[in-house]
Formats: sequence, C-alpha cells, structure tokens
Amino acid sequence: MMLQAAGRRLTGYVLLYISWFLKSCLFLYLPVYHIKVTGGSSGIGKCIAIECYKQGAFITLVARNEERLLQAKKEIEKHCINDKQVVLCISVDVSQDYSQVENVIKQAQEKLGPVDMLVNCAGMSISGKFEDLEVSTFEKLMSINYLGSVYPSRAVITTMKERRVGRIVFLASQAGQVGLFGFTAYSSSKFAIKGLAEALQMEVKPYNVYVTVAYPPDTDTPGFAEENKTKPLETRLISETTSICTPEQVAKQIVKDAIQGNFNSSVGSDGYMLSSLTCGMSPVTSITEGLQQVVTMGLFRMISLFYLGSFDNIIRRCMIERAKYGTADKTA
Ligand SMILES: NC(=O)c1ccc[n+]([C@@H]2O[C@H](COP(=O)([O-])OP(=O)(O)OC[C@H]3O[C@@H](n4cnc5c(N)ncnc54)[C@H](OP(=O)(O)O)[C@@H]3O)[C@@H](O)[C@H]2O)c1
Repeated sequence: MMLQAAGRRLTGYVLLYISWFLKSCLFLYLPVYHIKVTGGSSGIGKCIAIECYKQGAFITLVARNEERLLQAKKEIEKHCINDKQVVLCISVDVSQDYSQVENVIKQAQEKLGPVDMLVNCAGMSISGKFEDLEVSTFEKLMSINYLGSVYPSRAVITTMKERRVGRIVFLASQAGQVGLFGFTAYSSSKFAIKGLAEALQMEVKPYNVYVTVAYPPDTDTPGFAEENKTKPLETRLISETTSICTPEQVAKQIVKDAIQGNFNSSVGSDGYMLSSLTCGMSPVTSITEGLQQVVTMGLFRMISLFYLGSFDNIIRRCMIERAKYGTADKTA
C-alpha cells in the first residue's frame, strides 16, 4: 500500500517535471512580435528595444520627451534585420492618467497589432536620508515606478489573456530586494513591484502569460548618472561594494529571461545570490531553479550577514568622519 502511494507520488513529480520542461521549451518566438517598451528612449529600456529589434521585433517606444524618443528611434533602426520592421514612438507620461495610457496603447495596437511583450522600464531614482527627502518625492517615485508600471500592464492584460500569449516585464532593482541606506523612497517603490508581479503571475499563468521581474544592479545609464548627483556618501560607498554593469549586458539578460518566461531576472553572481536569498514564495520556472534556491539559501544568508556587517561599518565610519571634520550631514 505504502509503496503504491510512494510510486504514485513519484510519478506525479516526474509528470510535473516533464510539464515544466515542456513549458520551458515553449519560448515566445520573437520575430514579427510587437514589443512595447516604456522608458524606451534611454538607458536600459533603449537597450532592451535594440536587443528585441535585432531579433526582428516591431517596437513601440514610450516616454515623455519627443526629441529623445526620435533620437532613440534612429539609433534602434540601425539594427534592423528586415525592411518590414517598424519603430513607433509614443509620447505620454505613464504615471499620470490611466485613460490616456490606455488610449495610446490602443492606438499602437491598431498600428502594429496586439502587444506580445510589455517591458515596464520607465522609472527613476531619488536618494537621500529619510528626513531630508521631501514627502512629494515618496509620492513621485511611487507614481512613476509603481503606478507607471500598473497602468500600461493593466491596459494590455485583457488582450494577452484572450490571446493566451504574452510577457510582462517589470523593472525593479536590487534595491527592491534589499532596503539600503538612502533609498527609503526608491526601495519601497521597487518592493511594491515585486508584490504586484507575484500576484499578477498567479492570476495570468493559466492563460499562458508570463511575468518577469528584473533586478538590475547599478547600471551605467543617464538615469544612474543623474541619481549619483545627489546620492548620500553612505549610499555611494555601499554602491561601490559591487561593480557597475552596462545597459547592454542587463538588457540581454532581461530579454532572454522574458522570452523563456523566467520570473526572476538577475545579472552577475551578486544578483544570483540576492535573487535566491529573497525568493520567498515567488514562482519558480523549473524544478532545478527551486532546488538551487533550497540548497543555497543557508549559505547565501551567511554571506549576506557579512555584507550587512560591512554596510554597518561604512555607515559608522561616515558618522565618525562627519563628527571629526564637521561636514554637513546631508550628502557627500
Ligand atoms: N540604472 C540603474 O542603475 C538601475 C538599476 C536598477 C533598476 N533600474 C531601473 O531601470 C529602469 C530604467 O532605468 P535607467 O537607468 O535606464 O533610466 P533612464 O536612463 O533615466 O531612462 C528612463 C526612461 O524612462 C522614461 N520615463 C521616466 N519617467 C517617465 C514617465 N513618467 N512616463 C514615461 N516615461 C518616463 C524616460 O524618458 P522621459 O524622461 O523622456 O519620459 C527614459 O526613457 C528604471 O525603472 C530604474 O529604476 C535602473
């Protein structure tokens, strides 16, 4: 009796593994698909658009500044692989008015067909100590980083579910996996993305729609350069404990993970460690990924304690230096 039950359970696991394996083979084949990238006129978003265009996709770029949109369009078009490919530009603020976002997405779908992959890349970071940040900064970051991802996703999801195909990519950040000094406003807006993505994935998985959350490390983009201008010294020193990636490197990984329907997308060994460490109850794409998380969790937690200790030291050292030299306790 017990042997039979164990056999049945084993067969169940094998079938589950086979279905996972088959699913991972059902990649979204990119050529002639319509990819919409919000924040596609700069940095990571622009590189994602180029990466998809190189694979034959039709692109809709969304951002506010029309001039930068047109510049990005020209740059992307250099990577064309066939003369049917189109880059469409839409100027809209994705964080303000849902009906406006819905309208422009409708217009883009009328021109290029239904959106197969939406990449929510529009976003920004403002850092500073909690008490130094304006209250309006918390509202602004929540609006751009969180609502600016909710609105476009909400506008495409019904069609994706009806067609039973689609990918939605959210750009979180490593600061959306671990709360860091100076990022009280930014980290919370990126943590919100993870909750949104996990809940949405559970709803849309039966419709063959897959959600990917990307957790890029510091990446050399115009947005990052802007953020660095006001970063507190502590935040900058903590940042310097890891290396900076290129937007091309990050974009390549995100596109690959999105095509494969992977829930987590991270770059480098730090990224892999953080994603395993903070996976919680997030979905897994394969049994192998789940097993890796189970096996590595304890070890990674131990390594993370060393990191946290070194961050505490950085913060303490900054306080001592400031007390010694009487530097203003605001930014570097
Ligand atoms: N760079 C990093 O180190 C890093 C690390 C982790 C995560 N991330 C995340 O990755 C994403 C891209 O970052 P990035 O560094 O590539 O940024 P970026 O170079 O500053 O580009 C941001 C893009 O978003 C657009 N945008 C901003 N606000 C918008 C709005 N309200 N409506 C429509 N478009 C808007 C910008 O165009 P307009 O200004 O013309 O609208 C631009 O195209 C962000 O979500 C960021 O938080 C970045």
